[in-house]
Amino acid sequence: MANEDKVLEALLKEDRTFPPPAYFIEKALVKDTSLYEEAKKDREAFWAKQAENIDWFQKWDKVLDTSNAPFFKWFVNGKLNVSYNCIDRHLNTWRRTKAAIIWEGEPGDDRVLTYQDLYREVTRCANVLKELGVRRGDRVTIYLPMIPELPIAMLACARIGAPHSVVFGGFSAESLRDRINDCQAKLVITADGGWRRGGIVPLKKNCDDALAECPSVEKVLMVKRTGQDVNFVQGRDYWWHEMMARAPIGCEPEHMDAEDMLYILYTSGTTGKPKGVVHTTGGYLVGVSTTHRMIFDIKDDDIYWCTADIGWVTGHSYIVYGPLANGCTTVMYEGSPDWPERDRFWAIVEKYRVNILYTAPTAIRAFMKWGTEWPGRRDLSSLRLLGTVGEPINPEAWMWYYKYIGNERCPIVDTWWQTETGMILISPLPGVTTLKPGSATIPFPGVEAAVVDNTGKDVPLGSGGYLVLKSPWPAMLRTIYGDPDRYVAQYWSRFENMYFTGDGARWDEDGYFWIMGRVDDVINVSGHRLGTMEIESALVDHPAVAEAAVIGKAHEVKGQAVSAFVTLKEGFQGTPQLIEELKAHVVKKIGALARPEDIFFTAELPKTRSGKIMRRLLRDIAEGRVLGDTTTLADPSVVAQIKQQYESQES
Ligand code: PRX
Repeated sequence: MANEDKVLEALLKEDRTFPPPAYFIEKALVKDTSLYEEAKKDREAFWAKQAENIDWFQKWDKVLDTSNAPFFKWFVNGKLNVSYNCIDRHLNTWRRTKAAIIWEGEPGDDRVLTYQDLYREVTRCANVLKELGVRRGDRVTIYLPMIPELPIAMLACARIGAPHSVVFGGFSAESLRDRINDCQAKLVITADGGWRRGGIVPLKKNCDDALAECPSVEKVLMVKRTGQDVNFVQGRDYWWHEMMARAPIGCEPEHMDAEDMLYILYTSGTTGKPKGVVHTTGGYLVGVSTTHRMIFDIKDDDIYWCTADIGWVTGHSYIVYGPLANGCTTVMYEGSPDWPERDRFWAIVEKYRVNILYTAPTAIRAFMKWGTEWPGRRDLSSLRLLGTVGEPINPEAWMWYYKYIGNERCPIVDTWWQTETGMILISPLPGVTTLKPGSATIPFPGVEAAVVDNTGKDVPLGSGGYLVLKSPWPAMLRTIYGDPDRYVAQYWSRFENMYFTGDGARWDEDGYFWIMGRVDDVINVSGHRLGTMEIESALVDHPAVAEAAVIGKAHEVKGQAVSAFVTLKEGFQGTPQLIEELKAHVVKKIGALARPEDIFFTAELPKTRSGKIMRRLLRDIAEGRVLGDTTTLADPSVVAQIKQQYESQES
């Protein structure tokens, strides 16, 4: 590289800005920048003040203990219970009868649980767990569809101090087995099946297959959801509804230490072995409740819907723990966005008059592909705020969301964070921050993020580099379950005294952060490091393109050449003229350096179950290698099809 400090070149320019609308500022919880200033002056005092919003059985002695860094401790010696904070404390207020969870099943059934109802169900479930032999400190694996029993089970675990490990219902028996064995779970909570696009996901069958090799598991608690025949092992398996009917209401919440483990959540690592990210109790609850309230501008009469699956961290922090700690009404939907029709999300917004919608760029790109007629047939006028998470959002997808879902009225909070961070760290505050499409904007008050070069030095504004966090934050992961060395090596060794996120980013002249994706998703064309994200955004900017994945393909001269996989919007044909047009479009948006060497049209892109594009597999295809690990793919057949088409086109 000509200039070693130049970690990533950022060439795409985005000049549109959107200040908060006056009507929004007027009622916003946060209207000015004083919180940022306050937190800058004294970060720990800022977090201590936020912690006052949580109910503690015993107050902490010290806000942050750095003596054993990077094993930080927050709210040292504080005692609390997360389920108490999410339920009991609302029962002494008018919120007792407020809807805590509004749930809609894929077949169209629905259920509303008030905070009082939630108390009944959670305390009963806690008693069931005890009856099945679960004690404080035991791990419980939860493998359920998006049904109310999932948050009920999580809260019941939190109540008795048993850390849960939720495994996303789309994972296979083998993935489930590895996750159960890693944390040595004693109990598994599952269901007979779950609904997905009208079909049944055989959860209990997967669970039985997994348990053939899970010696730590003593009992299985099974919810009846789909009603099909299942294998039932006497003495090991128990029906949820039978156990719950017998269980008494009321269960004293355990007094947990702020640093006791609340949950483990597995996330994929580069080596293939999943990492059990450990989150604890006090700091986590303070972090998620504060960010949820301020970033989503939560008022008591809001209906808030985060469309993630609770199997991911987004669901843990922003469907369950953040919203319920804030006494908010949180919507949960079981199924697919295109079932029975492609307007299901919009039908749900219309039906419940949703005010705040939090979803992912991958979903937005699918909606763009399906066309505006779907949201157009529903009344979306209740919406006042939109959010995104999970990937960089291409500016055109942002504009589409803004225009067709938000009707140019709703601010969009683009929230950057990770399973490991537990809480949102970079995001606008909707009543304060001027938005720029494609930028997650600036760090939340009390969060110290920066963009650094190879040596850990801040790069100048206007340049790109590695995204790091320079000081601890309350909801941070505490370790990797059973592997503290990996925790240190993975996050705290690349740069001294800094947490390395693994993401590339640029900060612009205004100090706004532009996340450019994982640093492994970088292409080196003739010594220039280009983020795949920028080229993808330039492609998605073209009216024919719904989605694009860009990879670097080995090239004799340039080192790497840009190779693009593109899906088109409905009604467009992948003609040779269009290929030329798209190449020219990228040159116009970014420059000749980024011009794709080849463009390949495909009906689908390979994605992980949480919707992230798997560029690694596309690289394998483009370079004619045997496909790498495909077990984390949502639909492994997609990649096989692309490979076949690609190879037949090449020959
Ligand atoms: O690369 C960043 C991307 O998703 C990664 C974290 O993924 P995960 O642990 O699955 O958690 C997703 C939900 C919090 C990050 O390292 N990412 C997440 N949000 C954004 C993002 N990239 C750009 N913009 C975002 N808003």
